[in-house]
Amino acid sequence: MFDMKHAAVPASPTAYADAVATAVRAAEAYYADGSTPLGDDEYDALLRSITAYEQAHPDQVLPDSPTGKVAGGAASGDVPHSVPMLSLDNVFSAEELDLWAAGLERRLGRPVAGWCVEPKLDGLAVAARYRAGRLVQLVTRGDGLAGEDISHATGAVLGLPAELGEPVDVELRGEVLLTQSQFEQANAVRLAHGATPFANPRNGAAGTLRAKDRAYRVELTFFAYDALGLPEPAHSELLERIAALGANTAAATAAGPRHCTDVAQVQQRIAEIGALRAALPFGIDGIVIKADAAADQEQAGSGSRAPRWAVAYKLPAVHKVTRLLEVEWNVGRTGVIAPRAVLEPVEVDGVTITYATLHNPADITRRGLLIGDQVFVHRAGDVIPRVEAPLTEQRTGAEREIVFPTDCPRCGDAIDTSQQRWRCVRGRGCQAVASIRYAAGRDQLDIEGLGGTRAVQLVDAGLVTDLADLFTLTREQLLILERMGDTSADNLIAALAAAKAQPLHRVFCALGVRGTGRSMSRRIAAHFGSMAAIRAADAEALAGVDGIGPEKAAVVVAELAELADVLDRLAALGVGTAVTAPTAPATVSGSSAASASAAEDGPQGPLAGQAVVVTGTMTGPLAALSRTETNELIERAGGKASSSVSKRTTLLVAGDKAGSKRAKAEELGVRVVTPEEFAELVGELLV
Ligand code: IVH
Repeated sequence: MFDMKHAAVPASPTAYADAVATAVRAAEAYYADGSTPLGDDEYDALLRSITAYEQAHPDQVLPDSPTGKVAGGAASGDVPHSVPMLSLDNVFSAEELDLWAAGLERRLGRPVAGWCVEPKLDGLAVAARYRAGRLVQLVTRGDGLAGEDISHATGAVLGLPAELGEPVDVELRGEVLLTQSQFEQANAVRLAHGATPFANPRNGAAGTLRAKDRAYRVELTFFAYDALGLPEPAHSELLERIAALGANTAAATAAGPRHCTDVAQVQQRIAEIGALRAALPFGIDGIVIKADAAADQEQAGSGSRAPRWAVAYKLPAVHKVTRLLEVEWNVGRTGVIAPRAVLEPVEVDGVTITYATLHNPADITRRGLLIGDQVFVHRAGDVIPRVEAPLTEQRTGAEREIVFPTDCPRCGDAIDTSQQRWRCVRGRGCQAVASIRYAAGRDQLDIEGLGGTRAVQLVDAGLVTDLADLFTLTREQLLILERMGDTSADNLIAALAAAKAQPLHRVFCALGVRGTGRSMSRRIAAHFGSMAAIRAADAEALAGVDGIGPEKAAVVVAELAELADVLDRLAALGVGTAVTAPTAPATVSGSSAASASAAEDGPQGPLAGQAVVVTGTMTGPLAALSRTETNELIERAGGKASSSVSKRTTLLVAGDKAGSKRAKAEELGVRVVTPEEFAELVGELLV
């Protein structure tokens, strides 16, 4: 099997033959039923590698090679085309288009009389034959010379009238596709009939057009872009005439055909259509530029594969193939448990995608996805990327099932699976249980006796909905809970009293503000010195904290605004009011009253002022610590932990197999120590 991922020029005649066989199989599958073992980009890369080999070894070109053939030589049929249905040459940039246009004008020996610029519809080419205005036959493009009779499909194609407005003999040529809503409708119908969903609209159109005797109907749309038998002086006028006869053309859309007088206007219209792409209700894979005047077209003529008077300006693919690495289950604010695909990063339309929506668990099952699958991912404009379908032909056997959660991943309670969208049975309350559990955790308020079950009980009993409620609990209230005796209640009340006196950074951390973990909470607490100062901080003030950029600052400000009520109540209850020394002038009056109790939060200790990076395998006393624990140790020692070496780094702890970070540190003259030397530096803090 040819290795598509590394579609380099084949190194031997056997590798070349393998590449040809792979391309032929892919084209055959595509033209047979719309399925595809390869993504468009992989197929294009494969064709390029085959072409390169053939250019270097013209004597070895195999007869079944797909190069230079319409439809990769795969499609055929027994209905001859009176005039060949050609393909188009491609350009990929404004410069290439300029060159192409200049070439055409050189060939004509004069300027082109005007251009027609229109969308390149991403579907399948068909020829619709009308006799005396009546639709009599629908034929696929096939190999360009003969196609297949698909007249059975005519009733399902919108925009292709059974009868035209005039009794003309004409052959309309155009593209049949599934619009976005038809695609969604088609997949819903297929799923209802137990069929697998289409991978993308184009495959869906291919599969639908050729299918006969289906138990369900899938509606398609036709867009005409040419006609035989309707003489008009210009292509743009021909399109108007086609529309006037009652057939659908792209003129009905925002990206419709435009007459342009020169190439500069053409480039501008290309940019406009490109910008409209994401909002169009159907897929386009490029823009077609045609010499408008019939006389120019006639004089330029055609090659065996493509006309010389038209070219396709290709747009980047919006359907890309990548690997599904994992599925994450995220619980939203309303308790909805949504799956999200973690992908091998892939660039789609200029943006690197690492996550894509998977809608809901039923959708995963219907698509038959497995972890490790090669999948189609779609992204256009600002639309959230989505996983479309797996490329089942590419499976290696190493794929594994996607494990669905049996309990809510956030609070551990049951999941309501009665609807397509799964929800934690607690709904919005899920958040409360999870927040309380987090706040009570060892690294936050460390409240003993407030484990998972207790948090659930307190929320269920309506006693606690947020962090502040915890500190209003009374012994009597606790005693109404099941399995809560006198001693447990006393212990919990004592633990809560102790929690109230926890230092500011722990209380702040307990709030679970997005983007602020333990280390960041320490830094924020040290910077502002009091909860009041934190609460009053705007984005600018927050951006003064080491490690907070403008983006994170905005998130924290928004989170604090949401938590305003909780913060007020905590302050009124005296939680988190232990005064701490700010490291920067605080904006709130009173907070400058730095006290002697700054020891825990101030940047003091053996690593004060140091920016520390840890890399490689730790040995000695550090071997027992996770990387997070090591980073916490650094922060405890007054340093700042970071994951990458930069000019700001002052110390690198390099364990075994410390690779590029060590090299970089040495290059930058950063001090490098062994884990054992580092353990000595931090001394007794390492316990
Ligand atoms: S003109 C001889 N115009 O793109 C003229 N083709 O990659 C050839 N296509 O085979 C076609 N939108 O299936 C033309 N506005 C458009 C088109 C278009 C889509 C398809 C058509 C063609 C293929 C070439």
